[in-house]
Amino acid sequence: MSGICDGRVVVVTGAGRGLGRAHALAFAAEGARIVVNDLGVGLDGTPGPDSPAGRVVAEIHAAGGEAVAHGGDIATPRGAASLVTTALETYGRLDTLVNNAGFLRDRMLVNLDEDDWDTVLRVHLTGHFLPLKHAAAHWRAEARAGRPPAARIVNTSSGAGLLGSLGQGNYSAAKAGIVALTLVAAAELARYGVQVNAIAPAARTRMTERTFAETMAAPASGFDAMAPENVSPLVVWLGSAASTGVTGRVFAAEAGRITVMEGWRPGPTTDKGARWSPGEAGEAVRKLLTEAEAPGAVYGA
Ligand SMILES: NC(=O)c1ccc[n+]([C@@H]2O[C@H](COP(=O)([O-])OP(=O)(O)OC[C@H]3O[C@@H](n4cnc5c(N)ncnc54)[C@H](O)[C@@H]3O)[C@@H](O)[C@H]2O)c1
Repeated sequence: MSGICDGRVVVVTGAGRGLGRAHALAFAAEGARIVVNDLGVGLDGTPGPDSPAGRVVAEIHAAGGEAVAHGGDIATPRGAASLVTTALETYGRLDTLVNNAGFLRDRMLVNLDEDDWDTVLRVHLTGHFLPLKHAAAHWRAEARAGRPPAARIVNTSSGAGLLGSLGQGNYSAAKAGIVALTLVAAAELARYGVQVNAIAPAARTRMTERTFAETMAAPASGFDAMAPENVSPLVVWLGSAASTGVTGRVFAAEAGRITVMEGWRPGPTTDKGARWSPGEAGEAVRKLLTEAEAPGAVYGA
């Protein structure tokens, strides 16, 4: 197996199934050696019987690639740190981190209890921050030792984090946080040779196969647009040395489509040069809104 990731070592979190599995197989097919992480939890994060990471490692070996399983929880300091040590102890290097693991606890906000809020924020947002922090510390040390890396981080946001999604207040907030984390990490880590981008994917996995059963179903023949494997080529390219110069970006990826997502930037503005009264501010806002673009619809609204 060889290609644009020859010689690279890639960690993919939550790679036991769904999108993460597809990314791991696609990186391996391009010559990378993979740390396949998965804790093996249920759709709502409840403990599962075993980690599916070993099965994906077996698939990569069967295809002639190299991979090692990691069954830790990426949202704990120990699990996150051991992602990096597993890569270094097994393969002697780390080049790319794909943050992907996560699960859902969907509820309307009035029914969302604090545990469902904390748990989802923890697995997605903390589960991105901690692996990123440990990988970045390694790459900073490499840069300082005179071995500047061509390191890459690919984070996983969601349309829910960009536009909002009904019944997913916790998940949307976490995924929006991942976008902000991506922007800050790209700016802070550029000096160490680390590029950081995010994707907002859509694909048929256990996370979506029930809610979008009809729209995501595999066709009897032809292009299976919603297969998770369709998202992975972009992730592999972003995670390769070939993506030099691309950092701090968010890409939507679905089927055969790649879209650069353009974020918040100032729209219509007005300046009184002095303090407004509330009534005046309201009048100014109503006028500005007639000039502003309407926001995209919240998913499910
Ligand atoms: N499927 C989609 O359409 C879609 C859309 C937008 C965003 N996403 C995001 O893509 C990512 C992958 O989702 P998927 O659809 O493949 O879901 P999935 O449930 O098939 O896979 C997620 C994997 O993460 C693992 N995991 C969960 N918590 C973990 C932890 N603490 N440590 C290690 N592993 C853990 C699970 O065991 C599971 O195998 C998620 O971040 C999800 O929010 C998916």
